Amino acid sequence: MTDKFIRNLYGRRGSRLRGRERELFDVRRKEYEAFAGGDVTLTLDLEAHFPQAKQIWLEVGFGGGEHLVAQAGANPAVGLIGCEHYVDGVAGCLAKLETGEIENARVHHGDARDLMDALPDASVSRAFLLYPDPWPKARHHKRRFINPENLDSFARILTDEAHLRVASDIPEYIDWTKEHLLERADFALISDSDTAWDDWPGTRYEAKAFREGRSPAYLTYERRPR
Ligand SMILES: C[S@@+](CC[C@H](N)C(=O)[O-])C[C@H]1O[C@@H](n2cnc3c(N)ncnc32)[C@H](O)[C@@H]1O
Repeated sequence: MTDKFIRNLYGRRGSRLRGRERELFDVRRKEYEAFAGGDVTLTLDLEAHFPQAKQIWLEVGFGGGEHLVAQAGANPAVGLIGCEHYVDGVAGCLAKLETGEIENARVHHGDARDLMDALPDASVSRAFLLYPDPWPKARHHKRRFINPENLDSFARILTDEAHLRVASDIPEYIDWTKEHLLERADFALISDSDTAWDDWPGTRYEAKAFREGRSPAYLTYERRPR
């Protein structure tokens, strides 16, 4: 599969949104859209999006947005930016943001790599990669979000001492993550736990993992000072 095919697969063409969800996606999304008009060639104006924010946090692949919305609600002084390929997930997240009357969050419906490219150097104080797609077959490993190029991108956008949180219920993906980050001078592993973070609201995918008897691991990395 080509990258373009994957983007279309998860994108608008696959949408079966109806009624309220369709309206939310088409109309309300504009209020929460990280890129004006969805134009990913723009540089993000964080000051304009979050004039009051003391920190910017980023969530990659937020699924239905449970974690993003809970963190935004619990941390009003933070500006939360999330991205997700999956159109139904974006619509679900918008519904939760609207219901919770949450204003300190922005979403990008599309590829996290575009969003990360549009973020200034050292602008993100915390990043979340929660239950990334495991791509279990060896020939698909190159699609895993943890890879040298995306880690370079995290290293560029994270502030000194910022935390990168990674959760997965796939032991092999946890090992993969540790191996890739161990090689790097710009990240240090500060916590590897089978207990979630204190402020953890859970995610939909995590609930499924528990139902199916899998035990997640929770990794915290620090972006070493430059
Ligand atoms: C296994 S799901 C986990 C969703 C959510 N984090 C949770 O824990 O419930 C992984 C999600 O990451 C999204 N995703 C994967 N690669 C992405 C990318 N490059 N940009 C945006 N979203 C991505 C997928 O669409 C999918 O919804």
